[in-house]
Amino acid sequence: MESEIMEFLKGKKKTIDEAIAKYLPKNVDEKYIKWLLGKPSYEYTTKTIQEALSKPIWEFLTRGGKRWRPALFLLFNEALGGDAAKVKDFTATLELLHEGSIMIDDIEDSSDLRRGKPCTHKIFGEDIAINAGNFMYFLAFFPLIKNRDKFNEKTLLRAWQTTLEEITRIHYGQASDIAWHKGLADADSINEREYMQMCAYKTGVLARLAARLAVILNDGSEELEEKLGGFSESIGVAFQIQDDIMNIAPTKGWGKETGDDINEGKRTLLVIHTLKKADKKDAQRLLLILEMHTKDRKLIGEAINIIKKYGAVEYSKKFARNMVRKAWKEVEELIPGGEAKKKLEAFAMFAIEREI
Ligand code: IPE
Ligand code: IPE
Ligand code: MG
Ligand code: MG
Repeated sequence: MESEIMEFLKGKKKTIDEAIAKYLPKNVDEKYIKWLLGKPSYEYTTKTIQEALSKPIWEFLTRGGKRWRPALFLLFNEALGGDAAKVKDFTATLELLHEGSIMIDDIEDSSDLRRGKPCTHKIFGEDIAINAGNFMYFLAFFPLIKNRDKFNEKTLLRAWQTTLEEITRIHYGQASDIAWHKGLADADSINEREYMQMCAYKTGVLARLAARLAVILNDGSEELEEKLGGFSESIGVAFQIQDDIMNIAPTKGWGKETGDDINEGKRTLLVIHTLKKADKKDAQRLLLILEMHTKDRKLIGEAINIIKKYGAVEYSKKFARNMVRKAWKEVEELIPGGEAKKKLEAFAMFAIEREI
């Protein structure tokens, strides 16, 4: 099942990257700049845009990345009987929002590695990474402007509002994550529902946007938008839970640093479960290590062992599986049968069973 979805993702990559390249070419020229934003008032050189935006962004994009958010969007579109050529530019919307958010997240999290290489701010500097990340957030809205001939005003306004809502929600998610690991909020008493909401905001929203945009661009009802959006959000939450698991139990395809989450002091489902189940000594020790924000491999290993000792990995996996199964049952009947429907179900399970 996993390889079926991996193949599917590989097959969509070219379409997605071409859409992104339309909005930010690998080689920037004057024609592109004029097309995107019109003539400048004075004088400019394409070199600055090339060096400070296109180069670092494409270096980041060509390292890898699964492109699963736009691929999921195309899958929803197909399941709804939509025309792939008509909506293809919106794959750039989904991927650019994601790419911008992780480039900036790596600065916020003081991360070293992304996709097996040093993070953008480590190679190009924080100034370049922050500006490029923000640029991607705004660039993501341009397919709405450049496709005005294909959709009516009402549809575009609905798509605009939805995109704006979801990208704003990401910042709510990041706010919880940051506040908890920074000790600005009561991190030690976070319950599962608070954690789920943080994941829904942080990671669920772009999956939700994938479904919502597919419904909107096909002029589907608000009810369908809400329901498919909810199902897709659970895919995103499950994806995050699996991400947290791989952080302490890495697989071969993992391109980030093992135990990063311990160093960041993150309150994951794994940690919440362990704090609930562990004896007082282990719970206190785990909290102490999380609060140290340490890079010491021995201490990180000790924290991971405590988490594993209380079965948190198995618990989290089961939790994610149950959540996605339940969410699928709620929408199963709303999606017309066929190949795309089968793939959607497989995709939901991939979020949990994946090893990359
Ligand atoms: C990483 O997302 C950030 C999370 C929300 C966990 P992905 O695992 O989709 O990152 P890439 O794009 O494939 O590198
Ligand atoms: C990334 O979350 C989510 C967003 C950027 C919105 P994390 O910080 O948990 O993900 P990784 O581990 O850096 O990929
Ligand atoms: Mg991070
Ligand atoms: Mg983060």
